Amino acid sequence: MQSSSLPVIHEDPYGEDVWLNPYPFYTRLRDAGPVVYLEKYDAYATGRYDLAREALLDWRRFTSARGVGLADLADSERWPGLKPSGLVEQDPPNHDVARQAIIKLFTAKEMRGLQARLTARAEELVDELLAKGTIDAYEDFAYQFPFSIVPDLIGVPEDGRDSMLPFSSLSIQASTSPHNERIREIMSEAGPLREWVANASKRENLTPDGWGARIWAMVDEGDIDDELAVKLIRALITAGMDTTIFGLVNTIHSLIDFPEQWEKLSAEPDLAKFALDETLRFESPTQTITRTVSEDTELGGIKLTGGKKIIFFTGATGRDDRKWGERAEQYDLTQASRDHLGLGFGIHQCAGQPLARMEVQILLTTFAKKVTNLKLAGEAVSLNTAPLRSWTQLPIEIS
Ligand code: HEM
Repeated sequence: MQSSSLPVIHEDPYGEDVWLNPYPFYTRLRDAGPVVYLEKYDAYATGRYDLAREALLDWRRFTSARGVGLADLADSERWPGLKPSGLVEQDPPNHDVARQAIIKLFTAKEMRGLQARLTARAEELVDELLAKGTIDAYEDFAYQFPFSIVPDLIGVPEDGRDSMLPFSSLSIQASTSPHNERIREIMSEAGPLREWVANASKRENLTPDGWGARIWAMVDEGDIDDELAVKLIRALITAGMDTTIFGLVNTIHSLIDFPEQWEKLSAEPDLAKFALDETLRFESPTQTITRTVSEDTELGGIKLTGGKKIIFFTGATGRDDRKWGERAEQYDLTQASRDHLGLGFGIHQCAGQPLARMEVQILLTTFAKKVTNLKLAGEAVSLNTAPLRSWTQLPIEIS
């Protein structure tokens, strides 16, 4: 039984008509009430910033261990074949162990050690692209940068690295897709990609100085076991590239939509350090985070039934004017936006964010220093794979 004060939404937020431009739906979602019931998915949802933030902070009431998508990992009959991942789909104390291991790779010292390498690669890439003039912001710019860095950092074999991005996309969709049929399809397509990743994660197949080898060294030191090591390497392969790629694409897309912001950035390339946060607030590649209500509780004065899913539309929280005021619908690099929820919040807040921040800042600063003119040069093609939001084709002209 639903609480009587719970507004019911009948439309499908993940339907193609909504997903191609979810923002009008997000306004309806936020205005309908603090928390709503999505009839199609038998799940709760909120688009309000303060409530999503409160709930993400409270892993006891809103568990990850039953999956971070609509699939309920506790219901193997309805959602067969899904197993929890090693980090994001774990609650403490399991999560503590995994998190303590992985964050060792992302310390400030580690990041400082990468700076020169990233800067050299960014210079080289932007020069190459300027020589071409017309490029695809997805394929030539956003994809190329992390792809030339992250596989080497993890230390996976050169052969077959092309499998990484499709594996990552499929894994993210398998754990977060709202569509059961799509999850089944993904599971059946994923065989060869999984095999590549399983082989690439083996101790003997990793370079001796990469993150993968360091994770295996943690096994030798007794910090983690073999099974967790494999899961952590898989988490790096899954999470380490496509979100950053889409973050870069969405940044370029927003700069094209708000040309005065591009002018500001071009005049003051240091503003690039604020770009990722503003993009993650305004046009985030990850539009939702999902949890399961652990037991009967309440959020925003609405009673919630234990065992049901709850979707935090973080894409909607980034434009909630209750939080962001008049600037909610404006992309603006000069306003503080760091407390957006685009990297999650609470114990699962993105572990790889130091790397993502540094990659975007370095590449975009270099781009803004060298490029004066930026404009759209053809049709942008939307990714349209809920719950991710980005473009897989974004032709631009640069000079
Ligand atoms: C702009 C780029 C990125 C975005 C938008 C992003 C987004 C997110 C979000 C929203 C979460 C929380 C998921 C949840 O609570 O259910 C998360 C967690 C995570 N991210 Fe990222 N991410 C990015 C880059 C990266 C990179 C570069 C890495 C690693 C190389 C990474 C590794 C992780 C890991 C391991 C977690 C799980 C943390 C935990 O459960 O404790 N991410 N990310």
